[in-house]
Amino acid sequence: MSRVLELDAIEQVYGSGDAAVHALRGIDLSVESGDYVAIMGPSGSGKSTLMNLLGCLDIASSGRYSLAGHDVRELSENELARVRNQEIGFIFQSFNLVARMSALANVELPLVYGGVRRAERRRRALEALDRVGLAQRADHEPHELSGGQQQRVAIARALVTNPTLVLADEPTGNLDSASTDEILAIFDDLAQSGRTIVIITHEEHVAERAHRVLSIRDGNIASDRLTGIAAA
Ligand SMILES: Nc1ncnc2c1ncn2[C@@H]1O[C@H](COP(=O)(O)OP(=O)(O)O)[C@@H](O)[C@H]1O
Ligand SMILES: [Mg+2]
Repeated sequence: MSRVLELDAIEQVYGSGDAAVHALRGIDLSVESGDYVAIMGPSGSGKSTLMNLLGCLDIASSGRYSLAGHDVRELSENELARVRNQEIGFIFQSFNLVARMSALANVELPLVYGGVRRAERRRRALEALDRVGLAQRADHEPHELSGGQQQRVAIARALVTNPTLVLADEPTGNLDSASTDEILAIFDDLAQSGRTIVIITHEEHVAERAHRVLSIRDGNIASDRLTGIAAA
């Protein structure tokens, strides 16, 4: 198994002097290829800060973060943009689809930025939509889809670049229980096919579907345990 990411003594401080907020206080963490990790913790504990670092949306104040063997501090802005576009698939609570664009066009977007040609984009986007069971809805715009379907489109968009890491921030936070079950079944399927997934959630039943659960408290990892699914 290869190491997808490694954090070594990661600290994140917002502001300075008296106003400084120590959002992360020395996080050590490694995630191997094929891991399915849930991150839990109370509001303000540092989850989003950690996700922003993992997604290369932000750089830590100190410590080392290696993604697929590369120290992210040594990457240029262009290289970071490429990593965000091609190595990481982002899934958000609010889906973040582009309105007035078809599901297919939304899924194609990361490939547009990646410079993939039109026919190839279309083929790969349809394949990704098929993976989440929505190939027949390819022409629908977001407002014509249910919340659960929109999140499935967002998952297809996250997968279309074949990323090293899928990062999801409260992906079921806006969904009813039936749609939540659909989304979790897709994650199960992705995990089974060896995809590396890190998911933030408040919900215990969502976290228990992962193979490993990290709890964060006050910027530290308070616990790191394997779930029953990992043992099975
Ligand atoms: N941009 C920022 N500037 C100042 N403080 C911030 C900023 N972002 C987060 N924080 C603070 O860092 C801590 C961790 O926040 P966050 O990572 O958003 O926690 P969570 O996602 O677990 O709710 C909190 O005390 C929060 O107020
Ligand atoms: Mg947050």
